[in-house]
Amino acid sequence: MTDTAAFGEQAPAGAIGWQAVVPVGNSITLPPDPHIMDAIGGNHRLETAVADLVDNSLDAGASRVLIRFVVADHRVQSFYVIDDGRGMTRDQIDGAMTVGGARTYGSSELGHFGLGLKAASFSQADSLTVISIAEESPAVGRRWLTSKASNSFECDIVGYGFCCRELGRPWDFVTPSTGTIVRWDAIRAFPSGHDADVASRFIQDASTRIQHHLGMVFHRFLEAGTIKIGIDVEDVSLIGTGPVVEVKPLDPFGYLRPGAGGYPKELRTTIEGVPVTALCHVWPGRSQQPQFRLPGATPEQFQGLYFYRRDRLLQAGGWNNVEVQRRDLQLARVAINLDDDLVNSRVFRMNPEKSRVKTGHEFGEALGRASAEDGTTFHGYIETAQQAFKQSNQRSRARAQIVPLGRGVPPRVRRTVERELNSLPGYDDVDLRWKDLGSDLFFDIDRDANTIWLNIRYRQLVTGDGHASFNDAALVKTLVFLLVENLFHGSYWGPKDKDNLELWQTLLTTAVKAELE
Ligand SMILES: Nc1ncnc2c1ncn2[C@@H]1O[C@H](COP(=O)(O)OP(=O)(O)O)[C@@H](O)[C@H]1O
Ligand SMILES: [Mg+2]
Repeated sequence: MTDTAAFGEQAPAGAIGWQAVVPVGNSITLPPDPHIMDAIGGNHRLETAVADLVDNSLDAGASRVLIRFVVADHRVQSFYVIDDGRGMTRDQIDGAMTVGGARTYGSSELGHFGLGLKAASFSQADSLTVISIAEESPAVGRRWLTSKASNSFECDIVGYGFCCRELGRPWDFVTPSTGTIVRWDAIRAFPSGHDADVASRFIQDASTRIQHHLGMVFHRFLEAGTIKIGIDVEDVSLIGTGPVVEVKPLDPFGYLRPGAGGYPKELRTTIEGVPVTALCHVWPGRSQQPQFRLPGATPEQFQGLYFYRRDRLLQAGGWNNVEVQRRDLQLARVAINLDDDLVNSRVFRMNPEKSRVKTGHEFGEALGRASAEDGTTFHGYIETAQQAFKQSNQRSRARAQIVPLGRGVPPRVRRTVERELNSLPGYDDVDLRWKDLGSDLFFDIDRDANTIWLNIRYRQLVTGDGHASFNDAALVKTLVFLLVENLFHGSYWGPKDKDNLELWQTLLTTAVKAELE
């Protein structure tokens, strides 16, 4: 039937006057082109997609989430996210599979658009299966294939038997007596060949990225113990699964001591009448903590604003035009909790991947007005952070020069010594090693061999239960090195050097023997 026939009308001839009401006939259904999913999830990375699934698990009250790679035939075939949350009934799972099926959310829930599950999944995979079991309700399952979705929004119903089978598999880390399984197959984002090395390298890398991202995004939940997240690998050709790696919290503000006195400071302001607090932190200079050297970029790029919504991190660094990223601002990180009145107001808008917050010009103005109880302004804070950076650089230049530390301690210790102290030019590395000194002496110095010898008689005592290895006893070795490294300076020992060596040998030997008694 043509549109003309449907209306039984002819096109009017002659002059065409304006009509107040647009006349319409029957309706036709025009489902959105499923390619909109590509547009929505277009900027997802594997780790941001997984975070979206974990959001749902948290909303469902899960205490544990397991992320599993399934390898068959030397290829990662399936990817699972399983939780022990409250699960879904039949009606709820249909809602879950609906694109844009936003529902009413509780005050702490992370869901928002009713898109996350679908957008995240289809950004990575062409097949999404959701299986769920809620209390006093039978297991239910739905599957969506992008190929099928290309002409309709049809969803397959997964058989009851298979649902029970999947729920009953040995997941080890999580027991979904109630809970939900999200399973991806035909994963575009994973390597497609059948090469065991490629697959294992991919899993290693993907698992690390997921650990870091989830560790950071959910650090408040992980620290509070609200949720535990594990990652493992199941190779169907082997019996059992590999070890579970637990995601550790990665707090971008987790320094041991702040880099400036009186910090962090709470700068208060209001935006559209809603109070907003910017908790301004100054990191200590040149920190080697993983919380400072966050993965994926340099610390310099991690300066700036950290927005949280309901304790979930939405943005890790960046200044949103209130400042300019620069080297001497790398110690500045600001935490801002956005409450519901603000997120997705005109002023703050999170992107669908929940990895950035867009801010309106009102935000910069509000920060300009912000101040702490002691009167500190945002501008003042920025200056302090710059000062702290400058000072930490100057301090390190003024530090003592020492001979380079060689083998016998873990590489991490070597690197730290190298970074924190300045190496004397023209000197060879000094190694720390164990050997039988043929006496009770705790240590001896061998300038010809550039070695500090530790008496092997005390090795067991020093390492305790730890295994003897080339790089064992890092603490004792580092202390001895710092104590005696200056005996390697210069080309000969003066009387003072000789006396010092004797003194330290006597003291340490007495101490170690006292411990043996
Ligand atoms: N792991 C899960 N456990 C329980 N319910 C879930 C789970 N994942 C998704 N859902 C349901 O599906 C709905 C849609 O999820 P999603 O597409 O991520 O959008 P949103 O989280 O914004 O609502 C959720 O609101 C929730 O009701
Ligand atoms: Mg969601």
